[in-house]
Amino acid sequence: MHLIRRNRILRQTPAIRAMVAETILRPADFIAPLFITEGTGVREEISSMQGYYRMSIDNTLQEVKELWSLGIKSVLLFIKCSDELKDNKGTEALNPKGLMQRSIRAIKSAHPEMIVMTDVALDPFSTYGHDGIVDGNEIVNDPTVEVLAKMSVSHAQAGADFVAPSDMMDGRILAIREALENDGYTRTGIMAYSAKYASCFYGPFRDALDSAPGFGDKKTYQMDYANRTEAIKETLMDVEEGADIVMVKPAMAYLDIIREIRNNVEVPVSAYHVSGEYAMIKAAAKMGWLDENKAIIESLTSIKRAGADLIATYFAKDAARLING
Ligand code: PBG
Repeated sequence: MHLIRRNRILRQTPAIRAMVAETILRPADFIAPLFITEGTGVREEISSMQGYYRMSIDNTLQEVKELWSLGIKSVLLFIKCSDELKDNKGTEALNPKGLMQRSIRAIKSAHPEMIVMTDVALDPFSTYGHDGIVDGNEIVNDPTVEVLAKMSVSHAQAGADFVAPSDMMDGRILAIREALENDGYTRTGIMAYSAKYASCFYGPFRDALDSAPGFGDKKTYQMDYANRTEAIKETLMDVEEGADIVMVKPAMAYLDIIREIRNNVEVPVSAYHVSGEYAMIKAAAKMGWLDENKAIIESLTSIKRAGADLIATYFAKDAARLING
């Protein structure tokens, strides 16, 4: 044969493959989600997320230190609210001494360099487990947005670097931006969950925070996974309303959406490799059906290749260790 182009030349050795690799993961690509609970010395494994823990603030500080030493630059905080503090209006979400606010302060004072991002939605605080205020059977938009804006200011006040609204109410990015501006928080960023789909892959997360919806589902606010054009509309609107970073969620069943968004916006795009995606790899690896480390790196590389600049993932620490060798 006299071939002009032999594509295998560029695949011959690990050195050549490394030289021409188009996608390279870095620890700084990862956002590590953290689940925080009351108490001291607490480190409880989440049953549907083996190898992942709910921790009290003291243990969380240790974890943050370790993450930073591995090269991870940002954490995304979720708190587990006690049942007696839950109501329909998210009252506890605004408590300046609430678990979220205390966690932000503790992390920023122990590790000021770590970027602290905070989840903004009512579900962990809601007796109904919904992301917004419930009226009859409805999750009401405008009153919810008011609370989300106040919640964001409260997180900014405690020292959050970015607030991350994950609720999918209409108009919340603009309302949050205006509230931050009004109160002088001109350095607080907004990472908007812009294309967040109503997905079964959030199941294990809801176990972690005991936040499963008490009635119905989230399909009147989270997106229908049949839709792609709508994801572009949602995301462009969030950028117009002031989002600094936009997000697609989940990640692996939505790689086409990540690429579509990457091609349509000029802000960083993040993707959330969610709890169910973590659990699937963990479960298959436990059965001996998948090589866990290889599955982690291949999955995260595919998400970055699709167009994600940042990846929120429960594998952040494992992946950083694998990358660092
Ligand atoms: C809540 C929220 C959810 C997740 C992040 N923020 C759950 C939901 O929308 O029901 C899911 C994260 C995961 O599954 O890892 N607003």
